Amino acid sequence: MFVKGLKCRECGKVYPRDLVYVCGDCFGPLEIDYDYDAIRRVLTRRAVASRPPTMWRYAELLPLDGPPAVGVRVGCTPLLPAPRLARAWGCREIWIKNDAVQYPTLSFKDRVVAVAISKALEFGMETVGCASTGNLANSVAALAAQAGLEAYVLIPADLEQGKVINSLVYGAHVVGVEGQYDDVNRLCAEIADRFGWGIVNVNLRPFYAEGSKSMGYEIFEDLGWRTPRNVVCPMAGGSLICKLRKAEQECRALGLLESDAPPVKYFGAQAAGCNPIVEMVKQRRDFVRPQRARTIAKSLAIGNPADGYYAYKTMTESGGGADDVTDEEVVAAMRELAESEGIFTETAGGVTVGVARKLVAAGRIPRDESLALCITGNGLKTQEALSGVLRVERVIRPNLGEFERLVGERPADRRLQIAAR
Ligand SMILES: Cc1ncc(COP(=O)(O)O)c(C=O)c1O
Ligand SMILES: [Zn+2]
Repeated sequence: MFVKGLKCRECGKVYPRDLVYVCGDCFGPLEIDYDYDAIRRVLTRRAVASRPPTMWRYAELLPLDGPPAVGVRVGCTPLLPAPRLARAWGCREIWIKNDAVQYPTLSFKDRVVAVAISKALEFGMETVGCASTGNLANSVAALAAQAGLEAYVLIPADLEQGKVINSLVYGAHVVGVEGQYDDVNRLCAEIADRFGWGIVNVNLRPFYAEGSKSMGYEIFEDLGWRTPRNVVCPMAGGSLICKLRKAEQECRALGLLESDAPPVKYFGAQAAGCNPIVEMVKQRRDFVRPQRARTIAKSLAIGNPADGYYAYKTMTESGGGADDVTDEEVVAAMRELAESEGIFTETAGGVTVGVARKLVAAGRIPRDESLALCITGNGLKTQEALSGVLRVERVIRPNLGEFERLVGERPADRRLQIAAR
């Protein structure tokens, strides 16, 4: 048992291990308070290496009282070298943390939900829910089904079909709400109060958010307990980017990282049509100005991000930064990642790759420094983004002559490209 209790991120007031999420004194958000001295004695590199390849190999740094009840196989997604992308951008070293193949619902949200629903069971809850831009809904629906819990997932009514079906199939109550994510979130806060359910990103938030740290631990461990000098991470509510830095700080404090591992610079990525956190960084303003979202990157479309202030601090304190990309650049980047590295990511991944490309081109991320890209979701869920852009070249009759004509008619440059491969 390594959780001492909860602690206010603003005033430091401590609370017992319970279902609390805001500070009664200052309304600051609460965070898990760990006994790091006790953790240091057991969580050695050797202990980690001896455990199964899941996020639970770092269990001491996750806020459960016992073993996880659901999401037992979540985590340890591949960290892949991306040599073709690196060559195209002129970079020495690019890594891709590929949560597009996360188990079971193909996004990094399985990490946070595995913690949240296991915690809901520890609290004896029977109904769980969430306010979601899509991926969280998929994960809550699937893991609630594994747990045998009733689930209410609330989403903006205009989400992609793939995200909606991927929640419905698990038997969850999927509630489309007229409005934007921020309207859905406000409603969920009221629902948590009224019904006492476990809303994973409202009243379970301090526990839930900790799951994101596992993405960081895995990157560092896979690099031989070293760090990438730069990390580019997509932002919606702004939680993931904060938790990656927290993971780095914990690994350093626990002596897991090599002592000469350089500090990581964290860069946040958003779509230009919903960039409230990027604007904070660009304008050096430490408070959020809420926006109305208009972008195809719907999973990142949070106009009033809960962790905007902390994400801002993560980027500025670490020497990183932030940038945004247009919807056209998102689509181009989705294609670039697929064509260069064989990875089909959703629009959020397009935002990450597009922003990284821009930061490298501008010299903000030096080409001779290592770079890791957090690919957090799967392209099969947001096919609308590409369905108007990509087409089968031509349908032919099943005879060789037609095929030869098709090959012969292809533009010369395209043929050259194929020959060069
Ligand atoms: C695919 C994907 N990537 C990144 C994020 C951003 O996460 P956070 O809200 O922690 O900033 C989300 C959030 O919904 C997401 O769905
Ligand atoms: Zn407080």
